[in-house]
Amino acid sequence: MADLSVAEIDDLIVTSQDIIRSPEKYRDICRYKKLATLFFEPSTRTRLSFEAAMYELGGQVLGFSEASSSSAAKGESVADTIRTVCCYADIIAMRHPKEGAPTVAATHASVPIINGGDGGHNHPTQTLADLLTIKLEKGHFEGLTVGLCGDLKFGRTVHSLVHAMCRYPGVRFVLISPEELKVPSYVKLPLKEGGVPYDQTTDLVSVLPELDVLYMTRVQRERFFNEDDYVRLKDSYILTSEKLTCAKPDLSIMHPLPRVNEISTEIDPDPRACYFRQALNGKYIRMALILKLLEESA
Ligand code: NCD
Repeated sequence: MADLSVAEIDDLIVTSQDIIRSPEKYRDICRYKKLATLFFEPSTRTRLSFEAAMYELGGQVLGFSEASSSSAAKGESVADTIRTVCCYADIIAMRHPKEGAPTVAATHASVPIINGGDGGHNHPTQTLADLLTIKLEKGHFEGLTVGLCGDLKFGRTVHSLVHAMCRYPGVRFVLISPEELKVPSYVKLPLKEGGVPYDQTTDLVSVLPELDVLYMTRVQRERFFNEDDYVRLKDSYILTSEKLTCAKPDLSIMHPLPRVNEISTEIDPDPRACYFRQALNGKYIRMALILKLLEESA
């Protein structure tokens, strides 16, 4: 998120809103341009929304959806894969299990590189989708109390969201997690440095009435060293209709998805449940991002 200023984020949101209003204006804008999606880790929303975004801009898509079908399986380095893909594509979106892999990729690339998730570190395009969702649901960021709940240690979407939202005035965070899955200290650093208010707790229900946004997350099984720890922690928080009775009537319930057990499906018809609208918004904001990066690299 550090690569984008608040003004640039706001511009991406404005472009996305224009795309939602007038999609026909954008139908051919990326004609003859190619997006490569290089996914070394599983994905449904991120990869498919990137691909749908490029198709809706009139462009084309190539790539792979698992490391095993790329030359990474033969031992090729990220640097060499990227140098090669730059021969074939105008822009690259990648996901990789190693923290920092997209930064390495960017140093070897002649086209823009977008981080679609790097290990347990960051997931900036999910954050852009989250910000667009909050903007559409709430109308503003200023003054919101945002609860982040679940695996705050390995949950990369939370790390990027904190980094972005703490730059808007009056935002307060409530960090809700088991002791073992607390947010890493490097994520809290900008909160401390910027004097951004935050509370930490293990108890979701006691803080629920204060929240304007509740951002639920999955316990990140693939990042655990030990399956027993995962099994012990996986159902730490399960949001049910009963728990929601004490929440604000205009609470926005978000989740980057995939969901495992964190939100009971009985909540899905509740108008406060935004997570599938959030997945749709991911396509619009990625359209805006592809456009911006292609314009800048032209
Ligand atoms: C998230 C991710 O990959 O970090 N999913 C997504 O991109 N929407 C969240 C998760 O996997 O739990």
